[in-house]
Amino acid sequence: MTFTELLAKIDVPIRKFLVHNYPYASCFVYSYARKFFLNRLVNEKPEQIQLPSELKRTFWGIEFRSPLFNAAGMFKSGKGYELACRQSAGAFLAGTATSKPRFGNYRDGILHPFVPYPVSKSSSNWMGLPNPGVRKVFDELQQVQKQKGVPIGLSLAADGNDMQDLKSLCEALFEAEKTNIDFIELNESCPNVDHSGLDLTSLDENFITRLEYISKNFLQKRKRNLPVILKLSNDFNSKFVPTLLKILIDLQFDGLNFGNTSTNYPECKSRIFQKELNTFDFFTRKFGGGVSGFPLKDKSYNLTSTASNCLKKINPQREFHIVRTGGIFNFEDYQKSAELGVSLFQWFTGYFENFTNFGHKLYQKFFKI
Ligand SMILES: Cc1cc2nc3c(=O)[nH]c(=O)nc-3n(C[C@H](O)[C@H](O)[C@H](O)COP(=O)(O)O)c2cc1C
Repeated sequence: MTFTELLAKIDVPIRKFLVHNYPYASCFVYSYARKFFLNRLVNEKPEQIQLPSELKRTFWGIEFRSPLFNAAGMFKSGKGYELACRQSAGAFLAGTATSKPRFGNYRDGILHPFVPYPVSKSSSNWMGLPNPGVRKVFDELQQVQKQKGVPIGLSLAADGNDMQDLKSLCEALFEAEKTNIDFIELNESCPNVDHSGLDLTSLDENFITRLEYISKNFLQKRKRNLPVILKLSNDFNSKFVPTLLKILIDLQFDGLNFGNTSTNYPECKSRIFQKELNTFDFFTRKFGGGVSGFPLKDKSYNLTSTASNCLKKINPQREFHIVRTGGIFNFEDYQKSAELGVSLFQWFTGYFENFTNFGHKLYQKFFKI
């Protein structure tokens, strides 16, 4: 058993005890413990896991060893590629990175607030996209020994909402084109940064103008195959999905991911186990933040089902894929959506839940091998 496998097991009763009894202490402890754990995790070298070749997928001409990989925010600085290869992830997604480095959020003695709700299989975070800046992430990714079937994705977000920020984003995209990165995920849905004026649940005018800018100033000028997936919130209103899809396809985006964390606290709260409600209320009152995990399962299923059905009707000339993120814990979650045409899957909360149970064999166990 490796150090992090042991630590994850030891932590099970501790986190329950803390989260069920001490809201502030649990936020404090897990905001810092999370980083310590991840630092150790990315440096571990577990034995190489093999997955059967039937799980391979080829999208946009890129080979994925399987349709499941980490969601953005786990490997923010770009470290962890070798770990993903050894665990047999379907890809490695670095970031979210921004053009300028970001310190992230700090309040009441807590840097990058995060708290798990272990029994509810959920968590809240209000990290505020801390990252060392996209150039540092490029440098980190340039050093990796790439393996066939484990493409590198980079999650990118603009520094803010004005024109200069969009210009810097497009510059970063052109720079990414010159690196070993295989695909990009554009994070237009972080609830923990200032998206002032942007409504994450609908298609507002500002949002469409941003998409048009990115299309005109990067997508239509790409010199090589570098698919760009747009990641939106799981709070997005499904009635706008058909229009959104048509816009994205016209603008030459290559995929759509539902999605990011939720700020619909009343809805999420109904999925939180009673003993974890105090901590949930404490976190959402003090920090706000986005909710992950089990409360997103139905939301991501419904949004990606709607998107897949629309996509079939549109039957676009260009290759376009739907990605599901939110509450993916087991094979059934994957199968249900894959049958409807969802192409790729990402996990964050489910990754750690499965890591606690199965350690580095989590992908193998997920696919019931
Ligand atoms: C601690 C934490 C940090 C996150 N950071 C990012 C991020 O940097 N970029 C992003 O697009 N999503 C980020 N997310 C959202 C996840 O990528 C994912 O969309 C969300 O957690 C739902 O998936 P899950 O239910 O499997 O956790 C973060 C989530 C958590 C819990």
